[in-house]
Amino acid sequence: MTKVLGIESSCDETAAAVYDPKEGILSNVIFSSIELQSPFGGVVPELASRTHLEKIRFIVDSALKNANTNLDKIDIIAVTNKPGLPGSLLVGLSFAKAIAWSKKKRLIGVNHLEGHIYSACIEHKIPFPFICLTASGGHTAIYYVESYDNYQLLGHTLDDAAGEAFDKISKLMHFPYPGGPIIEKLASEANFQDFMHYPRSMPHSLDFSFSGLKTAVLYDLINRSAYDLKNKVFTREKDIHLKQQVSSSLLVCIADIFKQKLTLAFKQYKNIQAVAFVGGVACNKYIKHKLHELCLKNNKLFFSPSPQYCTDNGAMIAFIGCHQSLNKEIPADSCDLLNLRLDID
Ligand code: KG4
Ligand code: ZN
Repeated sequence: MTKVLGIESSCDETAAAVYDPKEGILSNVIFSSIELQSPFGGVVPELASRTHLEKIRFIVDSALKNANTNLDKIDIIAVTNKPGLPGSLLVGLSFAKAIAWSKKKRLIGVNHLEGHIYSACIEHKIPFPFICLTASGGHTAIYYVESYDNYQLLGHTLDDAAGEAFDKISKLMHFPYPGGPIIEKLASEANFQDFMHYPRSMPHSLDFSFSGLKTAVLYDLINRSAYDLKNKVFTREKDIHLKQQVSSSLLVCIADIFKQKLTLAFKQYKNIQAVAFVGGVACNKYIKHKLHELCLKNNKLFFSPSPQYCTDNGAMIAFIGCHQSLNKEIPADSCDLLNLRLDID
């Protein structure tokens, strides 16, 4: 029997989980510093890394306790080693290295994006090959997934991520961070109608671009005298209808963009049997519903993880870390800090 402890600290969630390939996920503990970050309208890297330092020991202990186990009974420690905020990654990575060294456990570095790609496989047996649409605050990409060891990037965002579009536009209207959930709530109050017809970009490419969407919303608000560009102030704070209409139109627009990309992928990759929709934005029930509908029409299966495995979590790291450690050679530098990329994902 193998037990894997997964540790994730690439952005603002301090997370740990225990996975057993026979029994599944035994625990999944997440501390999010969202409430601390919220007043700043986004993630402050220094605040995130300090919070990881404070929380990591407690979170790892809780994951072991909830799984009814202890470090001695763990065989492998899987830890996110890239990409992410360097200061945040460093906390999880150093912690994992220290416990692996002191308890003589195998240590494996896991790519955070691969954690997301396979997160839908934790609860579902998805037939390969499948298309994975990953959408979160740090990345938006579409992959052709052939197996647990093999996948290809088909397209990715050339600028902002989809979650970032929700967060930035929400910030324009002075909503708290993260923007996705509140935009979804306001959009549902407006019955998910498209009032503003924001632009759907790059329909013939599998790449994404969301920064133009933010600019389009900004200039539309300026034209409606709802935003004072000079002082960076949203001036229609009390106009709930406008907030609902902007939120609804934005959500419908992003769902349309995803539908366009999947339709194009279905044309180009006829052998795929299923679609997985993962990452923080996959918590959005409206988008999930629309993508599910599209898959039904195109005779594809549709999968999306439950919300606890959509946002950043240790379970996805333990899960794919386990597969990778059992199935392939792990390069000696898989946990080398020098490999840290200086960007956010
Ligand atoms: O995966 P995640 O926790 O962190 C990253 O790896 O980035 O995703 C966070 C992102 C945020 O941008 C947030 O606004 C978005 O996921 N999000 C949502 C919803 N819940 C979270 N976006 C749309 N609708 C939601 N219900
Ligand atoms: Zn993530």
